[in-house]
Amino acid sequence: MEKKSIDWENLGFGYIKTDYRFVSNYKNGAWDEGSLTEDANVVISECAGVLQYAQTIFEGMKAYTTADGRIVTFRPDLNGERMEQSAERLEMPAFPKDKFVEAVRRTVKANAAYVPPYGSGATLYVRPYMFGSSPVIGVKPADEYQFRIFTTPVGPYFKGGFKPLTIRISDFDRAAPRGTGHIKAGLNYAMSLHAIVDAHNQGYDENMYLDAATRTRVEETGGANFLFVTKDGKVVTPKSDSILPSITRRSLIQVAREYLGMEAEEREVYVDELKDFAECGLCGTAAVISPVGKVVDHGKEICFPSGMTEIGPVTKKLYDTLTGIQMGTIKAPEGWVVEV
Ligand code: PLP
Ligand code: COI
Repeated sequence: MEKKSIDWENLGFGYIKTDYRFVSNYKNGAWDEGSLTEDANVVISECAGVLQYAQTIFEGMKAYTTADGRIVTFRPDLNGERMEQSAERLEMPAFPKDKFVEAVRRTVKANAAYVPPYGSGATLYVRPYMFGSSPVIGVKPADEYQFRIFTTPVGPYFKGGFKPLTIRISDFDRAAPRGTGHIKAGLNYAMSLHAIVDAHNQGYDENMYLDAATRTRVEETGGANFLFVTKDGKVVTPKSDSILPSITRRSLIQVAREYLGMEAEEREVYVDELKDFAECGLCGTAAVISPVGKVVDHGKEICFPSGMTEIGPVTKKLYDTLTGIQMGTIKAPEGWVVEV
């Protein structure tokens, strides 16, 4: 298979149309078989549930070329599981996890020419999503749904790669207690658009959202979980019912414990203790682990000792181990790396 002629090394995080996408429709209480298509357009009713009441959920994952030239995905079963949970919360029919994993495999395989080569720094981003497609005008769930998967080759989510980010504490909230912060619903991202535009306009890379009830605890950013390293070398990640259960974060906790012999804990993290951490990073499929150098709390700068020029040493070790597992240079735990 010949790779497409793309400048892999200089890709940003954007959309490039690839050849095939997977489509399956839910009608009369059942999903059809689903198939690959070359048609990138979606045609739905002007009154579709997704257009009127934002009934849409998605996932984000990546396909990698390993050092020995295989194409793999990382823990796709967990994305399938999380999508089932997202569907349940928005009264949508689950697209079964096993069918999800198989559909991801087929879509990536069909677009193999777009999976960036090993060592290029780029990957193939995979975006499964589902939306209410039938007309809805009273506030209720749609009767019909479409599940799709497209792929797009991507480079780093943040320009500048390993250059530490500057984050501000946001005055906007992302998710309510007992709301939808823990699922991957489009509505959560719509909520964050004004806050991110405002943050960029003020010169910040991202927002740190706090818990909406007390505004004393760290939650996450618009597209990644936080990871901290204490001065005595412990990995800490915020625990909350209103953040997305990041697959990258859950994997990194296991990597820290089992590969690096470090202590790692998930617990509530208070804004007041930010000044005590040695390192900070954002973790997620798109972000991988992006270092944070500074958090700005209403003009007050909280600078991590790892500084503004380089990724912190522990964050770097976590990054190297995780990406080594994903790219096949470090042995993966059973079931983590799935060949397409
Ligand atoms: N938090 C939010 C809000 C996200 O959008 C994402 C991205 O998927 C994450 C965290 C990271 O999750 P994962 O590691 O499963 O990609
Ligand atoms: C991902 O990391 O896959 C996401 O969905 C985050 C998004 C902001 C690109």
